Amino acid sequence: MISIRKIKVEETYNIRKQELRKNMSLPAQFTGDLNDKTLHLGLFDDDILVSIISFMKNDHKNLKGEQYQLRGMATLETYQKKGYGKKLVSRSEELLKEKKVSVIWCNARIIALDFYHKQGYKIIGEEFDIPQIGGHFVMYKRLM
Ligand SMILES: CC(C)(COP(=O)(O)OP(=O)(O)OC[C@H]1O[C@@H](n2cnc3c(N)ncnc32)[C@H](O)[C@@H]1OP(=O)(O)O)[C@@H](O)C(=O)NCCC(=O)NCCS
Repeated sequence: MISIRKIKVEETYNIRKQELRKNMSLPAQFTGDLNDKTLHLGLFDDDILVSIISFMKNDHKNLKGEQYQLRGMATLETYQKKGYGKKLVSRSEELLKEKKVSVIWCNARIIALDFYHKQGYKIIGEEFDIPQIGGHFVMYKRLM
């Protein structure tokens, strides 16, 4: 059975290390992780945490409205391409809409552009590099 619920930041570290920090010396903890307004959500498949996402109150200089930054989106490799990431993003958008958030944005890795694009996220600006990780684009979606 699939369920989605809020999780503690500590619960994200294992999947972040495996899927977002593979062969990198970057920390699994992000700036803003412990902020009161930060939201961490997890998708469970039969009580196994398989997909994670976090949202931080952070404004992008080229976007207007009440904004949250999506960070740390990852699904465990063996559970990828089963629709779990999509379900998690969709549920997160519902929750953020309830909080009157009007825009979600993220620094999307090149390999994940199509994943976000399929969920209605659009590119803004030029490609930029994040050391150790590689090329990224800012992507955003208006919720209202
Ligand atoms: C990107 C990622 C989060 C996608 O999670 P997922 O649970 O596999 O995604 P889903 O199965 O819900 O995919 C939803 C749709 O996006 C597509 N998709 C998923 N990952 C994709 C990828 N890397 N490239 C292209 N399309 C992708 C799926 O085929 C699916 O398409 P459909 O709706 O037409 O069937 C996952 O591949 C991952 O954790 N990657 C490693 C970490 C990472 O790069 N995170 C993003 C950081 S910005």
